[in-house]
Amino acid sequence: MSDRLLDGRPAIVTGAAGGIGRGHIAHLAAAGAPVVINDLNIEAAQAMADEIVAAGGKAIASAHNIGSREGAEGLVQACIEAFGSVRILVNNAGNLRDRTLLKMTDEEFDSVLTVHVKGTFWCAQAAARAMAEQGSGGAIVNTTSGAHFGSFGQTAYSAAKGAIASMTYTWAMELARHGIRVNAIGPLGTTAMSQTYRDADGKKGDDFDPSMNGPALVYLCSDEAANVSGQIFGTGGQRLSHMVQPHYGKTLIKPDGWDLDALRQHFQTHMPGEFGALGILGKPYPFHGGVHAPEQE
Ligand SMILES: NC(=O)c1ccc[n+]([C@@H]2O[C@H](COP(=O)([O-])OP(=O)(O)OC[C@H]3O[C@@H](n4cnc5c(N)ncnc54)[C@H](O)[C@@H]3O)[C@@H](O)[C@H]2O)c1
Repeated sequence: MSDRLLDGRPAIVTGAAGGIGRGHIAHLAAAGAPVVINDLNIEAAQAMADEIVAAGGKAIASAHNIGSREGAEGLVQACIEAFGSVRILVNNAGNLRDRTLLKMTDEEFDSVLTVHVKGTFWCAQAAARAMAEQGSGGAIVNTTSGAHFGSFGQTAYSAAKGAIASMTYTWAMELARHGIRVNAIGPLGTTAMSQTYRDADGKKGDDFDPSMNGPALVYLCSDEAANVSGQIFGTGGQRLSHMVQPHYGKTLIKPDGWDLDALRQHFQTHMPGEFGALGILGKPYPFHGGVHAPEQE
């Protein structure tokens, strides 16, 4: 069985000079894809490109800032100029400004939303327009995180990752007519960004080689995953995990509508039992005893 599942299919990875993106590039190149290694850290991106070219592959580095429309469009253009088309886009670049809601500033919030949400939107739009024009189809893989379930201290990051998950579902529906599949991963890796992560016990947690997300990424970009779109997978370490799409659960129907009296009569009987785990750490619902104001002196 050939491992070159992506032979000749030009691929862009944003934020690829280190961490998880670096691993993605290694696996895409090994699968035969000419790669565009995008990062603000252009020295590291260029060194990676040089290594791949020296080993007989095709690679260029790009310093475009994907946190701007011009940067995203320039990045896609650079791929087309170097390799003739764009067939794969991996929206991986990211930043962090961890802060609870009560402390977060506009600048911190905007910075995270700009890189993750608008960067993903701008790159996907530019790449999808090019793929549609080429008539070649293509694969887009976005990067979300379990943080979008809720993550203490990560107002902006959880908002951004939730938006990316929602855009993934929407784009899968919109772009299928052009043969473009859109999926996302929630990766795992010990990287510059993961340094502040703590597990349920408040500990730093195990180390994970960030390149272990690469095989799943390659598979999702390949024709073998032609039936996979609008799906999100937890990847990295030992896991391959399907992230279930949020959907309405238990539903009570009252033909004439729910007035306040009816809600007061039935809500507490039927709904609290439905409150499952809350947040990225999957801890049981913590508020069954109520959320109360602190005692006043
Ligand atoms: N590390 C994890 O365990 C983990 C978990 C869940 C999700 N993720 C996501 O995986 C992705 C990669 O994260 P990582 O852990 O490898 O972090 P990282 O900090 O090592 O890599 C992110 C890269 O993005 C680049 N970047 C930032 N802003 C950019 C911009 N405007 N234009 C171009 N490049 C830019 C940075 O220079 C950096 O090299 C991120 O989207 C992150 O949110 C990581």
